[in-house]
Amino acid sequence: MCGIVGVLGKHEAAPILVEALKRLEYRGYDSAGIATINDKRLDRRRAVGKLVNLSDLLVHDPLRGKSGIGHTRWATHGAPNTVNAHPHKAGPVAVVHNGIIENFRDLRSELAAAGLAHETDTDTETVAMLVHHLMEQGQSPVEAAKSAIARLEGAYALGFLFDGEDDLIVAARKGSPLAIGHGDGEMYVGSDAIALAPLTDRITYLEEGDIAIVTRTTLDIIDAHGNRANRAVRTIAIDSTHVDKGGHKHFMAKEIAEQPAVIGDTLRHYLSAAGGGLTLPQPEMDFTQYDRLTLVACGTAYYACLTAKYWFEQLAGLPVDVDIASEFRYREPPVPARTAAIFVSQSGETADTLAALRYCEGRAAKILSIVNVPESSIARESDLALPIHAGVEIGVASTKAFTCQLTVLLLMALKAASDREAIDPARLSDLLSHLRGLPSTINNTLELNEDFRKAAYQLSSAENALFLGRGMMYPLALEGALKLKEISYIHAEAYASGELKHGPIALIDEKMPVIVMAPRDALFDKTVSNMQEVMARGGKVMLITDAPGAAAASEDTWLTLTLPQVDPILSPILYAIPAQLLAYHTAVAKGTDVDQPRNLAKSVTVE
Ligand code: F6R
Repeated sequence: MCGIVGVLGKHEAAPILVEALKRLEYRGYDSAGIATINDKRLDRRRAVGKLVNLSDLLVHDPLRGKSGIGHTRWATHGAPNTVNAHPHKAGPVAVVHNGIIENFRDLRSELAAAGLAHETDTDTETVAMLVHHLMEQGQSPVEAAKSAIARLEGAYALGFLFDGEDDLIVAARKGSPLAIGHGDGEMYVGSDAIALAPLTDRITYLEEGDIAIVTRTTLDIIDAHGNRANRAVRTIAIDSTHVDKGGHKHFMAKEIAEQPAVIGDTLRHYLSAAGGGLTLPQPEMDFTQYDRLTLVACGTAYYACLTAKYWFEQLAGLPVDVDIASEFRYREPPVPARTAAIFVSQSGETADTLAALRYCEGRAAKILSIVNVPESSIARESDLALPIHAGVEIGVASTKAFTCQLTVLLLMALKAASDREAIDPARLSDLLSHLRGLPSTINNTLELNEDFRKAAYQLSSAENALFLGRGMMYPLALEGALKLKEISYIHAEAYASGELKHGPIALIDEKMPVIVMAPRDALFDKTVSNMQEVMARGGKVMLITDAPGAAAASEDTWLTLTLPQVDPILSPILYAIPAQLLAYHTAVAKGTDVDQPRNLAKSVTVE
């Protein structure tokens, strides 16, 4: 989603801003722009599409100056065209914004009545107009920005630049993350530490409601109550902001390949060495304190939660409700006493998940989160945040974060089972030892890459696809369909295998590939019956199974792909790999934009 950068520097700002925006490309965007101050005069350049278009424009029509702000826009209000691209300007004010100003129509009418006409379809322009209006009434740039911010409803990260002020950026945060970077006689603003990584590793994260008045040598922060605030300067490890493809064609390919290593890191973090037990934080993680869990997330993280429901219920006998975050709080669900609420989010900034977390504050007995970004809003607002240790995930389609989320959730389910004495200690130690071997099993699965590439080539001519799975394979079928549709644009749906006869079977014909995810577990025979029903109607079955499953399945499948055999409890983590490889190679075969699929954003900071 939108990315913001700002610089008060010693060198030409335009190339620094464009470079920083490149590091935010992963968030997803459809236009970009920058504004700088040169000879105390504000000027801007904006272009639709990829950043290369902005760079080209800057070659022909450069922007000079050592102070500036920049933006990658993911359209919310108004089409992705040049007029609607940020920075927006009104009189002496330029602004970049991530989020949605919900009361912009009221503000716009008020400004229209005062004779100020808008030029764009955006909510953001209204903010620039309001600041301009307040400055016309005699307020200083800082006072005008503060008064305008006080009138805004909705979510925002904002950066303001002013005509005549080449040593001032005003930044503000409510609902969307924003960081200030400290240089040597230079200061920076960025949506995250990744944007600022080549410039500085010294970062101050703004808190909800903060307004920052930034100059080259000072940072003054006013908190949500109007008081001066001291916010820590943290040193961010270079590793945590390391962004390159490491020789792979796409970030997604690199992130798929990293899974054995990062799952190994996750396990090392939560399992004690030399065959010892779980080291999930004590005493907060005592699952005897809870009668029920509520798991809430969006997209792929939601499918991780759906999988975890099977684990918590089967292993620990702990009932679990799973909700899509955008539905959760509007349903106004009762949260019974002794309920722990668990929020799963790679970015830790997903607006709906954060709002659901806030709904549970004061209602749930405990608020836990599973995040990839430990400094994120969701982590900070939880009673206890468990990092997944996946490392930076750049590809818009979540891969390694999903398998690391699953790993942490399985460890939590095992902890719950152990706390509640629902699992035989020998079975627990057996599962922990299987888990320790999982990175190597995933490695073996990744070696089947070529098989999946060939299968994906065949899939790439399909217009539709169905994914089927039973039990713990059902959420994996959902994930497989999501991965395929988001990066290859093939329409894909997933069903619990048993649901096929209740409607979707009507879709089956010789043009419909049906991808069945079914290791040889207790439910395998039932899934095979569903597969037969598909084949009897001419449907093409791609079976993803293990060696016993391949031996027992019909020879009439279109394709059978054989994975290593694992304990059924671990299957969901392993079967994520074929889901990812199939989608990846299908997208490559179709020539789509794998890392930045159309219309999608990495961090969804609006509702
Ligand atoms: C799909 C995908 C999304 C995210 C979802 C939640 O590949 O990445 O569905 O899983 O937008 O994002 P986070 O985990 O950041 O809350």
